[in-house]
Amino acid sequence: MTDIYIKDAPKKVGEEVKIRGWAYNFRSSGSIYFLQVRDGSGRIQGIISKKDVAPELWENLSHITMETSVVVGGKLRVEKRAPSGVELDVTSLEIVAVAAEYPIAKKEHGTDFLMDNRHLWIRSSRQEAILRVRNEIEKAWRDFFYDRGFILTDSPVFTPSACEGTTDLFEVKYFDDVAYLTQSGQLYLEATAAALGRVYCFGPTFRSEKSKTRRHLTEFWMLEAEGAFVEFEENLKIQEDLVEFTVHRVLERRADDLKILERNLEPLQKILAPFPRLTYDEALAKLKELGSDIKWGDDLGADDETILTKQYEKPIFVTRYPVEVKAFYMKPDPQNPKVVLNADLLAPEGYGEVIGGSQRIDDLNLLEARIREHSLPKEAFEWYLDIRRFGSFPHSGFGIGLERTVAWICGLEHVRETIPFPRLLNRLKP
Ligand code: 4AD
Ligand code: MG
Repeated sequence: MTDIYIKDAPKKVGEEVKIRGWAYNFRSSGSIYFLQVRDGSGRIQGIISKKDVAPELWENLSHITMETSVVVGGKLRVEKRAPSGVELDVTSLEIVAVAAEYPIAKKEHGTDFLMDNRHLWIRSSRQEAILRVRNEIEKAWRDFFYDRGFILTDSPVFTPSACEGTTDLFEVKYFDDVAYLTQSGQLYLEATAAALGRVYCFGPTFRSEKSKTRRHLTEFWMLEAEGAFVEFEENLKIQEDLVEFTVHRVLERRADDLKILERNLEPLQKILAPFPRLTYDEALAKLKELGSDIKWGDDLGADDETILTKQYEKPIFVTRYPVEVKAFYMKPDPQNPKVVLNADLLAPEGYGEVIGGSQRIDDLNLLEARIREHSLPKEAFEWYLDIRRFGSFPHSGFGIGLERTVAWICGLEHVRETIPFPRLLNRLKP
């Protein structure tokens, strides 16, 4: 008997194999016992027929409870009606550990209950599928940037200053000093871009946003890219190529998981670059037509993004926001200094912002002025200003949120299901 993972079972039909996993369902009808086992790679049904097995094995079945860990052996057989196309005729069974009464039953549970039991909830087929898609997206992103010559330069998590505004910083004690958990690795990427040209970082970022929405986490993963001598338009091109590549990689490699999630594939198949671009002014005009009371100078709210994106089949870039609503480092549009050379990429089907990016200010004096206007402590930014002092260069970059991307591609209601252990305004456990 060879040890196999369930995902490889269809290739081993007719062979004697052993599978190690957990019993997630079972039932018996008189002299036949149906044992459903999962091992992380897949799910399979084992059939045990009383007349064909030793009496001790049959007796042992009475100890199996939901989530009992087992080693089952037997011969694989084609079964057209099974989701994987195969079943196991069980001839050996070893119980590794009997599970206590499992709190997550087949019935519907409330969100709080599931979130309290997140460490167990992740064993369900839906959650497994989501986490596999997440893994695929992370791999796609690394491949995309590696293949295009971007160098991964990891940014620190402990930082002395703010990147995205001072209101939602998590402060932590740092020996006799204070530090902040990073909101974004961007400022450090701008420095590594001057060393290596095209760079990216990918790690956890933190925002103490008091937002209780379906798209906000306090700890989320962001991939940020930065390119020396990359200007506004090229920055958008990299973003749309990345998003197209990501969606089609998942369609190609994780079709089974999207099926478990009952994701409608049609909208995803349409995600092909280029994506429509509209300026903030154009977006505002459209939103007013659609009944929003947004005024020039307001940031787009989540509801605005939702109604706007429902008008398009593809993701859309909204460009050139008013200076006041965006971060201090964004370069003003030379055609109209009231707006900046930024773009948010809004995902369709109501998902909204998944990417924020911009061209950066490369003029030392202007950047110093912005740091003053935003009341940021200049000393903390001296090193950042050095990037402009020593051979300044045009550069642009962006950050894409992993959890929002997973939620969109999987078609989920809320980002809490997109990360193994979500951290939210009101949740730090388990
Ligand atoms: O738009 P943001 O704040 O941009 C930056 O941090 C830039 N420094 C990035 C850059 O140019 N290098 O965040 C970028 C993305 C958002 O579009 C969103 O996908 C995600 O990060 N994001 C969040 N995801 C989950 N929960 C939150 N609280 C998030 N805040 C931002
Ligand atoms: Mg943003």
